[in-house]
Amino acid sequence: MAKTRVNDIEIAYEDVGCGPAIVLIHGYPFNRSLWADQVTALADRYRVLTLDLRGHGETEASVGTSTMKLMAQDVSALMDELRIDRAVVGGLSMGGYVALAFYQLFPHRVEKLLLADTRAQADTKEAKVTRAEQVEQILAEGMAGIVNAMLPKLLSPETVSKRPDIVKRLREMMMHTNPAGAAAALRGMAEREDQTERLSQVNVPTLIVVGKEDPITPVADSEKMHDGIAGSQLVVIENASHVSNIEQPEQFNRALQEFLSR
Ligand code: MLT
Repeated sequence: MAKTRVNDIEIAYEDVGCGPAIVLIHGYPFNRSLWADQVTALADRYRVLTLDLRGHGETEASVGTSTMKLMAQDVSALMDELRIDRAVVGGLSMGGYVALAFYQLFPHRVEKLLLADTRAQADTKEAKVTRAEQVEQILAEGMAGIVNAMLPKLLSPETVSKRPDIVKRLREMMMHTNPAGAAAALRGMAEREDQTERLSQVNVPTLIVVGKEDPITPVADSEKMHDGIAGSQLVVIENASHVSNIEQPEQFNRALQEFLSR
């Protein structure tokens, strides 16, 4: 793990392998270890950069709101620091919101896009209210309540019952998140722009991946992105829910490797 100061915070990151660069952006409330199975699969042929977004993992939390654009600017500043001009940019869930904001701000820096278990739409009014309630809960009680509520949605029932190792890994990742950082990310997600109209402007090869049983960002949301982005590829991962890259790493990595080598 390395750390560097970009914008107003110290960012923790891992930069492994050599070859064409890939930047992988984790979701909420996770950290860069979300991508461990992909880093292992890719680092012999690619330079893989994973980072802890502000307020997550070992990266400092900033007060207030972590907007998707601010986090995209952090990614861009980190790429500057590491002298990565262009990269394949991918994100899962909130990481996908950040990846879309990154493409909006820095399209010239994106070689290809990976959008995993994510969506282009903004939050509904009801979702914004729920985010505000979750902010209150996290700041009052810490992460445990949110983690317990999220876990059954992140993994399929079969994985929850048969893979305690995966459940433990996700629980520990989320419990490690700084409550102030999680609250800032929730506020940022509630404020994020709707990217639906911009999908038609995406003109880089794009892979969309989604777990077939994902209840948080369902397959229908991925189908909308697939319809919106000309020439995009949609892969639905069997026996997987929201963190399809952790639940079914072989299927996920196969789709990603085929996409990268094309
Ligand atoms: C995530 O996994 O990043 C979040 O669940 C996304 C969201 O809450 O919209």
